[in-house]
Amino acid sequence: MVVDLFAYYKNVLYKIYFTIIFIILLCLFDTVYVFLYYICMVKKYYEAYDDRYKKIHTETSLAWAGDRPSPSIENLLNKYGATKKSKILEIGCGEGQNAINLISLGYNIEASDISAEAIKWCKQKAKEKGIDENHFYVMDILKNNLKMKYDFIYSVAVLHMLVDDKDRHKFLKFVHNHLTDEGKAFIIVMGDGKETRRSDISKAFELAERPFADKVVRVATTSCRIVTWDEYLNEMKSAHLNVLEHYIDTTISGFSSSMVVVVEKL
Ligand SMILES: C[S@@+](CC[C@H](N)C(=O)[O-])C[C@H]1O[C@@H](n2cnc3c(N)ncnc32)[C@H](O)[C@@H]1O
Repeated sequence: MVVDLFAYYKNVLYKIYFTIIFIILLCLFDTVYVFLYYICMVKKYYEAYDDRYKKIHTETSLAWAGDRPSPSIENLLNKYGATKKSKILEIGCGEGQNAINLISLGYNIEASDISAEAIKWCKQKAKEKGIDENHFYVMDILKNNLKMKYDFIYSVAVLHMLVDDKDRHKFLKFVHNHLTDEGKAFIIVMGDGKETRRSDISKAFELAERPFADKVVRVATTSCRIVTWDEYLNEMKSAHLNVLEHYIDTTISGFSSSMVVVVEKL
């Protein structure tokens, strides 16, 4: 009888013991899950433009970057023999001023941006102009890949937003991986080829005063990395991109001086 009672209590104690262990493990798992979820949900510094677009679009109903396309992209497409059948991808199309112009001219463009607000804006503008809104989609080129390869890829004022070396390399690898064997990419960034500097990415979402439409507005600071020609050309080399030409362009809207490279896969 005493032995039975002892065995009974031992059994109960084991059950309590295992229940406690189970609860502790469950709590640990939950904490790790919440932690990982939090890490994944934290916005990256290069997403700050979404905040800027949202603020400007709701408060003014104007485009942050205006609607004037840069003639440089069309000129480069002509120079490198693009036809209306060439598959063309724009990375970081913003409010779509270049893509909408090129689509209106009959070019076969896919235009992508990480900012859902920018793509919403592009789709609305496309609709107003009778353009198929499916030309535009949200994509983070540092996280996503496409199945398609492109005859031409272009990007205006996007790579200079990427401050971390690893992010800049991923951008260029994306370009490399998505070009056809004969494909060409036009990558345009802010800079004069002499200056080198980088912004503090921890401040990308902080508000800062910026001139906009004849006044000063408070918008997300965003991020910026300016590189010299040497640095820029070395980055191309590290990503196995062959530079066909490089030069300064002063016609890109919003920038007094931009650095243009035309590259192909090595
Ligand atoms: C300075 S704006 C330039 C926009 C447009 N190309 C123009 O010339 O007005 C930079 C754009 O790059 C986009 N961008 C930043 N990081 C990106 C990423 N990882 N993938 C796709 N787009 C990105 C931003 O959302 C923003 O629209």
